Amino acid sequence: MNVRERQDIRVGYEEMPAVSSEPLTEEDIKKWQKARTIGAVMEIHDTIDSTNNRAKELAKQGVPHGFLVAANRQTSGRGRLGRSFFSPEGMGVYISYVLRLPVPVEKMLLVTPLAAVAVARAIEETADEQVKIKWVNDLFLHDKKVCGILCEASPEICDGRPSYLVLGIGVNVAPVTFPPELKDIATSIGNECKKPVSRNRLIAEISNQLEGLLSRLEPADFMGEYRLRSNVIGRRVRVLSGSVSFEALVRDIDDEGRLVVEKDREVLRLSSGEISIRW
Ligand code: BTN
Repeated sequence: MNVRERQDIRVGYEEMPAVSSEPLTEEDIKKWQKARTIGAVMEIHDTIDSTNNRAKELAKQGVPHGFLVAANRQTSGRGRLGRSFFSPEGMGVYISYVLRLPVPVEKMLLVTPLAAVAVARAIEETADEQVKIKWVNDLFLHDKKVCGILCEASPEICDGRPSYLVLGIGVNVAPVTFPPELKDIATSIGNECKKPVSRNRLIAEISNQLEGLLSRLEPADFMGEYRLRSNVIGRRVRVLSGSVSFEALVRDIDDEGRLVVEKDREVLRLSSGEISIRW
C-alpha cells in the first residue's frame, strides 16, 4: 500500500482516548505572541467541524487579515485531495488564518511553501527537533508526518486575484497512539521528543513566524530554506499527478515552488500533485 492509499483511510475519531493537554486560551497564546497582525484577533472553539470552514465563513463576513480560528477538536478536519485530517480532542493544533494579501496570484501560490517553513521553524523553536518538508505541504519528524497544511483560495475574485486565502494548519502535538492505518506514516511531537510542548505557545510561534515571512513574500527568499529542509531532493519518488502516476528523480524545487523532476531524461516542472517516497 503506498502513502496515498494509506492516508485515504478514514479514521473513526471516537476510537481514540480523549486525553486533553492544557486548555487552549487566548490569554496563554498572547503570552508568547509577538506578531501584531497575524493571530491578533482570534476565535477559539472547543469542537468544530473544520477550522477552515469557519475561517471561510468569517472571511465572507469581512474579518481582517490575520484572523485566527483555533479548535480543540475537529469532527471533519480536511486535508488535501478530499482526505480527512485526524483531529482528536486536545491532541493537536488545528488552526486556520484568513489572509488578505495584496500580491499577484503567482505569489499567492507560494503561501503553502512559506507556511511550511514557518511551521517547521515554530516546531523547532518549541521542540528542539529538526523538521523536514515533503513537497509540497507536509512536515516530517523522523521520517513520519507530523503536520499538514491546506491553503484554500476564495472563489470570489477582486482586482484579478482571490479576495482572501484560508490557510489551515494541523500539527499532531501530544503523545498519541495512532490507529493502525496511520501508525507507520504519522507521528506527533510528543511521540518523538521528550520535552512537553504547549499548544498555546506553538500557535503563537506559528503566528510569529508567519508574520515575519509574509512580509518577505516578494522576493521569496524563504525558498532557499524550503529546499534545505526538503526530504525529497535527490531521491527517486512516485509522482501522482491527476490520474497519471510515474517514477522520477527529484532534481530540485524552484523559486516558484515547483517540483523539478527527471523522467526518462526529460525534465518536468510540476506545480501540483502528490509524491510518495519509500524510505
Ligand atoms: C493535509 O495533510 O493534506 C492537510 C491537512 C490540513 C489540516 C488542517 S487542521 C486545521 C485546518 N482545518 C481543516 O479542516 N484542515 C486544516
